[in-house]
Amino acid sequence: MGLPNRDRVLSGSFSFLTTIILVLGSVLPLVEAGENETDRLTLLEFKARTVDPGGVFSSWNDTSHFCEWHGVTCGHRHRRVIILNLNSNNLAGAVPPHIGNLSFLREVDLGNNGFHSKIPPQFGRLFRLQWLFLYNNSFSGQIPSNLSHCSNLHALDLGYNMLEGNLPIELASLSKLKEIILEANRLVGNIPLSFGNLSSLLIFSASINNLSGMIPKTLGQLRYLSILFLASNNFIGMIPPSIFNISTLIFLDMVENQLEGSLPNHLGLTLPNLEEIYLNYNCLTGPIPKSISNASNLGQIQISVNNFIGKVPSFSKMRNLHWFSIDRNNLGDRQSADLDFMCSLTNSTNLGTLGISNNVFGGSIPDCIGNLSITLSWFSFSFNYISGTLPSRIGNLINLASLGMGGNDISGSIPSEIGNLNKLSRMTLQQNKFSGQIPKSIGNLRRLTGLDLSGNDLQGPIPSSLGNCQNLLYLDLSTNHLNGNIPLEIMSLSSLSIYLDLSGNNLSGSLPREIGNLKNLGKLSLAGNRLSQQIPSSISSCISMESLYIQDNLFEGPLPLIMSSMRGLQVLNVSNNRLVGHIPEFLGLLNLMNLSLSYNDFEGALPIRGVFKSAISTSVVGNKKLCGGLPDFQLPKCDYNESKRMRISRATKILISTFSTLAGVANIFCLLYFLWYRHNKKALASSSSEDGLLHVSYHSLLKATGGFSSTNLLGVGSFGSVYRGLLDQTQSIVAIKILDLTHHGASKSFIAECGILRRV
Ligand SMILES: *[C@@H]1O[C@H](CO)[C@@H](O)[C@H](O)[C@H]1NC(C)=O
Ligand SMILES: *[C@@H]1O[C@H](CO)[C@@H](O)[C@H](O)[C@H]1NC(C)=O
Ligand SMILES: *[C@@H]1O[C@H](CO)[C@@H](O)[C@H](O)[C@H]1NC(C)=O
Ligand SMILES: *[C@@H]1O[C@H](CO)[C@@H](O)[C@H](O)[C@H]1NC(C)=O
Ligand SMILES: *[C@@H]1O[C@H](CO)[C@@H](O)[C@H](O)[C@H]1NC(C)=O
Ligand SMILES: *[C@@H]1O[C@H](CO)[C@@H](O)[C@H](O)[C@H]1NC(C)=O
Ligand SMILES: *[C@@H]1O[C@H](CO)[C@@H](O)[C@H](O)[C@H]1NC(C)=O
Ligand SMILES: *[C@@H]1O[C@H](CO)[C@@H](O)[C@H](O)[C@H]1NC(C)=O
Ligand SMILES: *[C@@H]1O[C@H](CO)[C@@H](O)[C@H](O)[C@H]1NC(C)=O
Ligand SMILES: *[C@@H]1O[C@H](CO)[C@@H](O)[C@H](O)[C@H]1NC(C)=O
Ligand SMILES: *[C@@H]1O[C@H](CO)[C@@H](O)[C@H](O)[C@H]1NC(C)=O
Ligand SMILES: *[C@@H]1O[C@H](CO)[C@@H](O)[C@H](O)[C@H]1NC(C)=O
Repeated sequence: MGLPNRDRVLSGSFSFLTTIILVLGSVLPLVEAGENETDRLTLLEFKARTVDPGGVFSSWNDTSHFCEWHGVTCGHRHRRVIILNLNSNNLAGAVPPHIGNLSFLREVDLGNNGFHSKIPPQFGRLFRLQWLFLYNNSFSGQIPSNLSHCSNLHALDLGYNMLEGNLPIELASLSKLKEIILEANRLVGNIPLSFGNLSSLLIFSASINNLSGMIPKTLGQLRYLSILFLASNNFIGMIPPSIFNISTLIFLDMVENQLEGSLPNHLGLTLPNLEEIYLNYNCLTGPIPKSISNASNLGQIQISVNNFIGKVPSFSKMRNLHWFSIDRNNLGDRQSADLDFMCSLTNSTNLGTLGISNNVFGGSIPDCIGNLSITLSWFSFSFNYISGTLPSRIGNLINLASLGMGGNDISGSIPSEIGNLNKLSRMTLQQNKFSGQIPKSIGNLRRLTGLDLSGNDLQGPIPSSLGNCQNLLYLDLSTNHLNGNIPLEIMSLSSLSIYLDLSGNNLSGSLPREIGNLKNLGKLSLAGNRLSQQIPSSISSCISMESLYIQDNLFEGPLPLIMSSMRGLQVLNVSNNRLVGHIPEFLGLLNLMNLSLSYNDFEGALPIRGVFKSAISTSVVGNKKLCGGLPDFQLPKCDYNESKRMRISRATKILISTFSTLAGVANIFCLLYFLWYRHNKKALASSSSEDGLLHVSYHSLLKATGGFSSTNLLGVGSFGSVYRGLLDQTQSIVAIKILDLTHHGASKSFIAECGILRRV
């Protein structure tokens, strides 16, 4: 739940204010001859000191009277400057002290510019000034106490600057001040008690500063106050009860302070005009006063992140309520009637946000949630003690964009009506007791960006209809009892980027090779299922992958060498599978921080580079045939001859190769080792030519290896180099060996390798 939109409230208040503030009408004294020349010189001084990239001052020249200049308005009779309005003119520089010479000024608006340095205290000489707007500039220094001499001031807006220091006590004498806005500066210290003497005040905004101490109870004397914004400061202690006696109050914002104590019982009776109350992020306690329902104009109630307790009262009269958030309190009693108040909200026909998460509400979700306003778009009751089933009438709330109910005890099946909520972007049902199958209708939720069904008792297959949810950034179905294969449709969710978690289920079959489509996926967890067969080499296409968890499955075969291209991989856990072969060297070349190869059937020498330097980052226990490595791993020494023999035997197991000699290349032979897995064999056969061999041109090899670029160089041996390449013809990844025929024995070695491969 975000903080309230103060800008909107404030801009609303301006128009509200203009209707209230009296139009000037007093008779002005006669002007002495020659004083108007002062105005002209002062304006020219102002121009001279101001940086004006937009050229708005080009009209400020001698071809016209200064009363005609851009932004300048003069009085009709005496031709003196009464209004200087240069709002949003992209001006910068320091305002010169000469401004104090424009003694007929009633209104100054320099807002939305880049003025800096101090606010000249000479403003204090402008005793006719009624409106002073300097907001959204870069003014620094203190608020000049001399402003207190502007005894006719109605509105002072210094918001969004870099003003420092205390609030000047002297300002309390501005008895005509209706609006004081000091929002978003760097002010410190207390609100002076004397501010209770600003008896005309309608708006007091000092949010987003570093004010501290107690909020003075004298503010309760402000009989006309309608807006009080003190959010995001360091106020402590109780909100003075007198504040809740200001019957004119419409907007109250005290978000993000350290306020404590409880709200007065009569709040709803003494603040009958209240429309928005924001008290989020404080330490307030006690119950929500029952009388709040009498404040029937309330549109926003935001009291999240406090320590409110007890039963939530009825809100049946609040027809305008559109934002109700009480998240992260201690409301409720783990009782069955805790959620009764929800039914009273059915009269709030504009309700958009309903947040009651992280409280201690018990009972079940009342059926009347289906009668909540169709306008509801944000609804969360996560992390409570809510039990019972999820009413199918939830499907009525067709404008829901976010629905959270994780961390409760909700049981029964997920109603298929959930599929009606086709505007949902986020749905979290995790850590409940939902059972039965995941409804197929969930595939209707095409706008979903996040779906979390983890930690339930869901059964049956993963519905293939989830493949329709092409906007998913994360999908969590972990820790359920789902079975069957991983549907191919899940592998088409190329939007998946944050994570895909299917761990802790009973999924079987192979990991589809289409996994390679998930190019944006950062984390994949398939741990704790019954997935089998080989890890498809296409997994190397998951180039964004940082964490891969496939432990506790039945995967077989070797780790695909091609995984060396997964450069971002930081965590790899393949423990407790049936993986075999050598531990590939490339694992030591990646930036792995955590590697678990435990409880497989790996063999041969343990690499010693990278992650293999640390027996804490790397775990290899339960692989009986490993040897070597750094001493920390406490593995037996390798028998060199033994390991060489094993390498060949491994090669004969996993490599099925074809080769072709290349015409036109005098001294280079390329030998293709297709690192091919059984289930890929058919694909190869169909895409290769009739003799069963793949004919590859030098050109396509050049393309496949990026011009034999060093990034694709897998290794250099005594007779040549081995490159990784992606063949266009088959869309498969191959190893390409280039023999250096100038090297003595190279051709012999080539013949020997061909001999071995032929026998395979
Ligand atoms: C200044 O004021 C005097 C008398 O009020 C008047 O005669 C004169 O024209 C004014 N000059 C300008 C530039 O407005
Ligand atoms: C002087 O101001 C007039 C408008 O008042 C404008 O048309 C003219 O271009 C300006 N002259 C210069 C030199 O900027
Ligand atoms: C205007 O005010 C400044 C500083 O406040 C002063 O130094 C100057 O003499 C005044 N200029 C005129 C033209 O009155
Ligand atoms: C503040 O002023 C700048 C121009 O200096 C403008 O671009 C920006 O939109 C203004 N901000 C607000 C909140 O009005
Ligand atoms: C500020 O106000 C004091 C007291 O009225 C006065 O003496 C002083 O001249 C003023 N300063 C300026 C810069 O106007
Ligand atoms: C408020 O004004 C009254 C007179 O109007 C005065 O007696 C009192 O001292 C002022 N209070 C403060 C705190 O300045
Ligand atoms: C705000 O004031 C408090 C003391 O009241 C101080 O500890 C804190 O550092 C200040 N924070 C900022 C951002 O100035
Ligand atoms: C609030 O107003 C009531 C009635 O006007 C009064 O009795 C009570 O003392 C006031 N409370 C505070 C704290 O000002
Ligand atoms: C406050 O509301 C209650 C019940 O909603 C009602 O009985 C009572 O009359 C109301 N009080 C006022 C002052 O409106
Ligand atoms: C809705 O408002 C009507 C009229 O005020 C009232 O009779 C009804 O009880 C309210 N419904 C709920 C659920 O509070
Ligand atoms: C909710 O709406 C249904 C009709 O959709 C109606 O029958 C029922 O009485 C309503 N319940 C409440 C509590 O308003
Ligand atoms: C997993 O599924 C198999 C059948 O496919 C079944 O025999 C086994 O009991 C299931 N295990 C669990 C923990 O549900």
